[in-house]
Amino acid sequence: MSAIGSRPRYAASRRWMHWGTFLLVLLAYLAINVFTWFPRGSAVRANILAAHFLAGLAVLLLVLPRLMLRYRHSQPPVMPPLGRWADLLGKTTHAALYAFLLVQPLLGAITLQVGGKPVRLFGLTLLPSFVSHPDRALSHRIEELHGTIGTIFYWVIGLHILAALWHHFGRRDDTLQRML
Ligand code: HEM
Ligand code: HEM
Repeated sequence: MSAIGSRPRYAASRRWMHWGTFLLVLLAYLAINVFTWFPRGSAVRANILAAHFLAGLAVLLLVLPRLMLRYRHSQPPVMPPLGRWADLLGKTTHAALYAFLLVQPLLGAITLQVGGKPVRLFGLTLLPSFVSHPDRALSHRIEELHGTIGTIFYWVIGLHILAALWHHFGRRDDTLQRML
């Protein structure tokens, strides 16, 4: 934990990793929505899809130290303090977000591995496929689950952002300032 004036806030490492993750998730969503604009088989389409994979894998790398810090250190207190239900709702949303940051990239990576597809960027293999007998049907089912979770989390992330704005502009507490 560090402090704004005398007020405790999240440590710099936790703040940087939070906003870095936000940008990476944004990039992953942007890439997956934009790659279909380009013709099948084109290099630009393949590279935008690779950006989706790489942004997602970077999210996975960041979530591990984040979880470690989360459990080693306490949360900076919110001023004025929250009621029991608002506190519980916040904790539940954060747990769901952490689960998403862990499970979603793993499902994406498993989709590619089971389908026997490597991750390539500009023709360079960054992550080879380690599976000798690809199972396209299973890969497709995992991809569908990955897609469904991706759609659900548009809403959960939206709720999280609305909550942050409500704390700052509605309730006028220091929840958001602790993360800036
Ligand atoms: C936070 C990380 C991630 C998010 C939010 C995310 C989200 C999504 C979403 C929303 C889709 C579209 C599904 C659809 O339209 O049905 C998708 C597709 C996909 N994602 Fe991810 N994903 C992430 C990470 C990854 C990673 C790390 C990989 C692989 C290394 C991956 C592989 C895929 C694949 C193969 C598809 C299907 C693409 C296609 O239609 O050909 N994703 N992802
Ligand atoms: C992809 C988007 C985002 C994800 C996945 C995400 C994830 C998370 C997670 C997991 C936490 C819990 C941190 C911890 O306790 O260790 C958190 C906290 C927080 N996030 Fe986000 N976040 C996202 C975007 C945003 C945005 C855009 C804002 C601001 C508008 C924001 C504001 C906050 C604030 C203020 C906290 C601290 C909440 C508290 O301590 O009660 N987040 N976020």
